[in-house]
Amino acid sequence: MDNRRKLIVNGGRKLEGELRVHGAKNSALPLLSAAVLAHGETVLHNCPELTDVDAACRILTHLGCRCKRSGDTVTVDATNVSGYEIPDALMREMRSSIVFLGAVLGRTGRCRLSFPGGCELGARPIDLHLAALRQMGADIAEEHGYLDCTAAGGLHGAKITLSFPSVGATENILLAATAAKGFTEIHNAAREPEIVDLADCLGKFGAKIGGAGESVITVEGVPRAEPCEHSVIPDRIVAGTYLCAAAVTRGELILTRCEPRHMNGFIPVLEAMGARIYTYGGGKMYLSCNKRLTAPPTVRTMPYPGFPTDIQAPFTALCATAEGTSVFVETIFENRFRHIPELVRLGASIKTEGRVCVVQGVKRLSGAKVCAAELRGGAALVTAALAAEGTSEITGLGYIDRGYESLEGALRSVGADIKRV
Ligand code: EPZ
Repeated sequence: MDNRRKLIVNGGRKLEGELRVHGAKNSALPLLSAAVLAHGETVLHNCPELTDVDAACRILTHLGCRCKRSGDTVTVDATNVSGYEIPDALMREMRSSIVFLGAVLGRTGRCRLSFPGGCELGARPIDLHLAALRQMGADIAEEHGYLDCTAAGGLHGAKITLSFPSVGATENILLAATAAKGFTEIHNAAREPEIVDLADCLGKFGAKIGGAGESVITVEGVPRAEPCEHSVIPDRIVAGTYLCAAAVTRGELILTRCEPRHMNGFIPVLEAMGARIYTYGGGKMYLSCNKRLTAPPTVRTMPYPGFPTDIQAPFTALCATAEGTSVFVETIFENRFRHIPELVRLGASIKTEGRVCVVQGVKRLSGAKVCAAELRGGAALVTAALAAEGTSEITGLGYIDRGYESLEGALRSVGADIKRV
């Protein structure tokens, strides 16, 4: 975690050029967990170089897998999965390690891990994960901050209804159901593209999965999952962050290797604000913005296909200099406005009240020293600093590096005056 260094940004320069969008963090992580299920070597292409992906590989190695990376291809040999315990240190490093539970339980019949606990976004309960796995035959003891899960006779299929379309819970159920005997039905499943990507990969392992991307998913488990080769989908949140950075500097950007269909939750908001966006075939998109943006209608974060909570923070940075007042309602997480006080230090005029934040557009921001407190909030500070007059310093880079491959390198390649020192 690079917390010793900081980004120095001299704002006010248009971004112009072309950026490639890297593979999706929130797809790579469950796919790396899925590799535990396969008796052999799974090959994942377009796997982003992120600290969260490194952490997942350390967990795989701890479990007895052999991981190696060459370029953006990560190979996981899970022939000999010997362990079933995820050490506390690794759980603390990345709370989304909870997504290993379903796969380790499915492969070994056991899994012991510490409670992921809260994170920068607030409490991150896992009650939906545990209730579903118990329905599939897992015995889960929760004591002393540890989860001790066993499925001695193996997991069996179940009909599961989620009270909330939880992404992580849906992923854990898909992983467990692949190794379970019989049929599993998930009702009110998450519909995110990352769910579809995971289901595609599990299908290659031999599971029979229908309805991924819809609210009802059916899975028929496979007695012995065989490894496969799979390409991670592009990261829609990284793509959206790049678009916000180009729009806030009134520049123009071509994105390559992105998937515009995954971005329909927020592209219309950018267009409503006055950005011009064209999508071409073959994963190409174009944005240009040569005038001051106007505030969008109220933005409400929702499960997919709604406006994604992960892009809310960069959008608040974009609205900080738009004409008019914007309202954001954060319906997914309880504490996802931690970047707002830092945007105010950059000169933004924003008020938050619980899960609502009101952004009054100002003509310009001014550079300041700010600190990231979580991943997407950190990306919002970078976005705002690009538009701010003068020099900004941004610390807390460990958070940003979890989800963006060299954000400063990408932005510098299209004209930003930004460096890590
Ligand atoms: C995934 O988190 C993503 N992380 C998050 O991205 C993303 O914001 C989130 O989905 C929503 O899209 C990864 O994929 C690694 P949830 P996850 O389960 O699975 C409540 C980023 O910046 N809930 O859909 O944890 C929960 O408290 C990260 O890349 C329960 O109540 O999201 C939250 O309010 C941040 N009980 C809501 O559901 C549960 O058992 C959404 O959680 C599970 C969740």
